[in-house]
Amino acid sequence: MSGKPVCVADFEHYAKTFLPKSVYDYYRSGADDQETLADNVAAFSRWKLYPRVLRDVSVMDLSTSVLGQKISMPVCVAATAMQRMAHPDGETATAKACHAMGTGMMLSSWATSSIEEVAEAAPGGLRWLQLYVYKDREVTKSLVKRAERAGYKGIFVTVDTPFLGRRIDDVRNKFQLPPHLRLKNFSSNNLDFSGRDFGEDSGLAVYVANAIDASVNWEDIKWLRGLTSLPIVAKGILRADDAKEAVKLGVDGILVSNHGARQLDGVPATIDILPEIVEAVEGKVEVFLDGGIRKGTDILKALALGAKAVFIGRPLIWGLVYQGEEGAKEVLQMLKEEFRLAMALTGCRTVKEIGRTLIRRHEVLLSKI
Ligand SMILES: Cc1cc2nc3c(=O)[nH]c(=O)nc-3n(C[C@H](O)[C@H](O)[C@H](O)COP(=O)(O)O)c2cc1C
Repeated sequence: MSGKPVCVADFEHYAKTFLPKSVYDYYRSGADDQETLADNVAAFSRWKLYPRVLRDVSVMDLSTSVLGQKISMPVCVAATAMQRMAHPDGETATAKACHAMGTGMMLSSWATSSIEEVAEAAPGGLRWLQLYVYKDREVTKSLVKRAERAGYKGIFVTVDTPFLGRRIDDVRNKFQLPPHLRLKNFSSNNLDFSGRDFGEDSGLAVYVANAIDASVNWEDIKWLRGLTSLPIVAKGILRADDAKEAVKLGVDGILVSNHGARQLDGVPATIDILPEIVEAVEGKVEVFLDGGIRKGTDILKALALGAKAVFIGRPLIWGLVYQGEEGAKEVLQMLKEEFRLAMALTGCRTVKEIGRTLIRRHEVLLSKI
């Protein structure tokens, strides 16, 4: 790549060139044969846009809200673990970039900066905590309470990880957190993930098997609902019946996600599943999407199919690698401009004007010919 990055792929190219291989592999990889990893991106091109023309798009408003909080655009940042491997400032840089861009950040339970450090890095910024359910429920409870005290505006509970998906590169690389970093949300050595012998496996996979509760079930959602009055979003729902169950138990949102294709390989791309989840929840809660968002038209397609907002995982990491806070901001700004153009070229002046008539699935189109 010569010159400044002009698309997400350019940022990734930079990261691939400059990161240690095992770190790049950790960030990039999907599970098993990575079928879903490729499909998360490819699926967007199976959906075609039907633009409206002559609609005076000289003045536009990209703002919207998530769980009652206003944001400048419907693009937020998903939880990605261990961001200090991407840049020394890690999650604190992400928090500053999101605040500067007027959008929200979901902090991973497995961050290399603590809940409190991230809050202090960007006071006034919009943040949510991504939660894993630990075997020791007191640990889980204390994460939620710390997020409440530090002004986080919601909990995204990850529901697709009773065990870690098998990421072959991480197994080959015996992936470990570099010794100078720690999972900063935990003081106990058992719940940290550094400086231990994990044998021949991916260190993270062994960590999850030891610390995360494989018995996690719907009762835990009930428990969580009783524990906090913060909005709760179920992250990792891929079926209409699960979405309905989550709504019944009082969640405030559903994040349609396959964990960036890092858990079960062979599941559908998230954009293909989104319409049935939107239909299933009947407007009772907000529905979000992550997975494979790489450009402005992807964002527009997700909103046209009913998502309230989208979240990005890897693109933000590539921005961090490129230039910390500035790089993260550049990625968000680039997606914002691409989204603005996609809105203008489909004749939408506001996010509310983005609707189902703008989009059809390509196969449906072919079957009508
Ligand atoms: C490197 C990496 C680390 C991740 N860490 C977490 C995590 O700690 N908790 C979680 O719920 N999801 C995690 N995810 C999944 C993301 O939250 C999100 O679902 C996914 O990255 C979206 O797909 P995308 O990378 O194609 O944008 C991670 C994803 C990546 C790529």
